[in-house]
Amino acid sequence: MAEETPLLELVKVCKAYGDRWALKNVSLKLYPQEVLGVVGASGSGKTTLLKILYLQETAQGEYRLNVPGWEGRNLLLLSRYEQPAARHYLAMVYQDAAQALRMGFAALTNVAEPLVLRGERRFGVLAAEAQEALEQADFPLERAGDPPASLSGGERQRVQIAKALVQKPLAVLLDEPTTGLDLLVQATFLDTLRRLKRQLGMSLILVSHDLSVVRAVADRIVVLYQGEVVEEGLADQVLEDPRHPFTQDLVAARL
Ligand SMILES: Nc1ncnc2c1ncn2[C@@H]1O[C@H](COP(=O)(O)OP(=O)(O)O)[C@@H](O)[C@H]1O
Ligand SMILES: [Mg+2]
Repeated sequence: MAEETPLLELVKVCKAYGDRWALKNVSLKLYPQEVLGVVGASGSGKTTLLKILYLQETAQGEYRLNVPGWEGRNLLLLSRYEQPAARHYLAMVYQDAAQALRMGFAALTNVAEPLVLRGERRFGVLAAEAQEALEQADFPLERAGDPPASLSGGERQRVQIAKALVQKPLAVLLDEPTTGLDLLVQATFLDTLRRLKRQLGMSLILVSHDLSVVRAVADRIVVLYQGEVVEEGLADQVLEDPRHPFTQDLVAARL
């Protein structure tokens, strides 16, 4: 795996808010068809990391995307006008569905929206692609006409997944997607992520404060502690032989 070309790569990324560091020298790689789990306590910089990856936040350091036309570019130096083109390769799933969805519009409309923004106007194509994405996200199709406002928390997250999938991104970034869901809903949602990885070969970055969420899906795990990567490795290796005291406490479920 080490010799494979990563899809995306951060090298020594730093981010400060005022005089406080949110991220310090964060380096990480995401390889094709892998799930990278990022775990850390509240305030450790997880959301900041995803915002930087999604080009919603400025930062120092290097960010590379290994796609034709973008090799060698540091995405952290892109102008605001170039950012949307780079962002096309990624999709984001938020903890709070209201950040991504129009809560009063039909689920199907929400999922079709990214295609409309890309210029697709044929209703049949929009409906067919949105439906296929909802199906891939294990969303109950009989509710495709319902607005997220009337859906359950788990269903809303599936609409977000569908909205991500319809864009056919290289990687999906998920920020605490199951936080606030009850355990059974959480488990079935994580089943869907595992299947997407297996069947579609999706690359995911799954962020959570909850190690049990990350361990359910991740191939590799990165542990963030006060804005720094303190541990990283294959999931089994990190879980069986944690090196950093914070990870040891996480694994021993003392946190
Ligand atoms: N827009 C912001 N302005 C100032 N401080 C921020 C902002 N966003 C995050 N922070 C700070 O950066 C640190 C990391 O936050 P965040 O990335 O949200 O952590 P996490 O997602 O792991 O809970 C925290 O100390 C937080 O207060
Ligand atoms: Mg967060």
